[in-house]
Amino acid sequence: PAQTWAHGGVNSFLSFFKGYDYASVQRGFQVYKEVCSSCHAMHLLSYRNLLDVGFTEAEVKAIAAAQEITAGPNDQGEMFTRPGLPADRFKSPFPNAQAAAAANGGKAPPDLSLIVKARAHHEDYIYALLTGYTDAPEGFELSPGSNYNKYFPGNAIAMAQPIYENGVTYTDGTPATIEQQAKDVTNFMAWAAEPKLEERRRVGIMVILFLVFFAGIMYAAKRRLWSEVH
Ligand code: HEM
Repeated sequence: PAQTWAHGGVNSFLSFFKGYDYASVQRGFQVYKEVCSSCHAMHLLSYRNLLDVGFTEAEVKAIAAAQEITAGPNDQGEMFTRPGLPADRFKSPFPNAQAAAAANGGKAPPDLSLIVKARAHHEDYIYALLTGYTDAPEGFELSPGSNYNKYFPGNAIAMAQPIYENGVTYTDGTPATIEQQAKDVTNFMAWAAEPKLEERRRVGIMVILFLVFFAGIMYAAKRRLWSEVH
């Protein structure tokens, strides 16, 4: 089912004047961090990208520093870690796809960096998926390790329901219903997949305005140049 999105949707053609709801994007990051990031990587994001959604420099430094980043082996060949820096990419929960699949009954949780663009129906599908867990209908054979979801193609998904009422406690005091968290984390993933959406739309508007203005000038110039020709 279609939802309303402050930014109109990453794939919307008619939403040039719309931008992200950044309070929601920030809450969505909190949901990603506290719930989804134990299984899903977002390897295209760096901590410093969070500055663009309104986190302060101090907040970004603290978010990054809370992660232990593997910094490689030392001279003795021993692995060592260091606290994360704003320039680091988001830390992935698993070292590789095989480990990710092994920890999840054979299905690797996909990277969420571009998932909103990668799936048909974009934001509406992701929101529907996250709110679409129900009991399997009578007679539906659910194999062990899979969960019934109304909106997942085939209805049997390896991901257990990730979002529950008050699964997070929002730092801005917003009541954490399932719908609110699903909306916020979807807004966060939409921003992650299309961080330049507003700039792209702004440039598009400027280009159209310029073309209209330039067409006027060209028309006036044509009238003047040809005015003596009878
Ligand atoms: C798949 C989102 C939390 C494990 C997915 C997909 C999305 C998603 C969009 C892709 C569905 C598709 O292919 O159409 C999220 C979000 C989460 C979250 C937003 C947090 C709110 C988790 C957690 C786990 C997990 C905590 C592990 C305990 C998986 C697995 C799949 C998956 C294994 C693959 C499912 C399959 O192909 O059957 N998730 N997820 N997810 N997720 Fe999550």
